[in-house]
Amino acid sequence: MGRLAIIYGTGFGNTGLMARAIEEGATSAGVEVTIKNVNESDISDVEGADAIAIGSATYKGKAMPAVIEFVKEMARLQLKGKVGTAFGSYGWSGEAAKVITGMLKGYGMEVMEPPLRIKRQPAEAGLEECRQLGVQIAGKQK
Ligand SMILES: Cc1cc2nc3c(=O)[nH]c(=O)nc-3n(C[C@H](O)[C@H](O)[C@H](O)COP(=O)(O)O)c2cc1C
Repeated sequence: MGRLAIIYGTGFGNTGLMARAIEEGATSAGVEVTIKNVNESDISDVEGADAIAIGSATYKGKAMPAVIEFVKEMARLQLKGKVGTAFGSYGWSGEAAKVITGMLKGYGMEVMEPPLRIKRQPAEAGLEECRQLGVQIAGKQK
């Protein structure tokens, strides 16, 4: 079975809750998962992964700068055809996951759309959506 790397940026933990639930879903479907807060991560965490999920909360209409920096660094990896997805918690506009989706598509990844965006703190229904996303990612691994 494949390997999924989940890298996320979160200010107050909501996107982190989403990341943990995606991990749960993917793990339950038999995928090996590496999950890291972007501040404790480097590019080697996604190198060699079969699928990459990038999360960011939206602040002031943007994704978190550390996440954007991370995704920019991914440009030097061979990502063509790999599975990618973006996700994030937001309050009202939720640009972050959309911007990251565009960046991943630019690398030729097979990107799952639309990205999973959840308003504020995910309730049980939202967490279940995240778990299902994890299962879906697992289903795409060859
Ligand atoms: C200073 C500040 C600016 C924010 N700007 C936006 C914004 O531009 N658009 C939006 O959708 N949400 C915005 N939010 C709401 C956050 O995205 C929301 O609280 C989200 O749940 C935070 O996720 P996190 O806990 O993963 O950091 C903002 C929140 C704060 C505190």
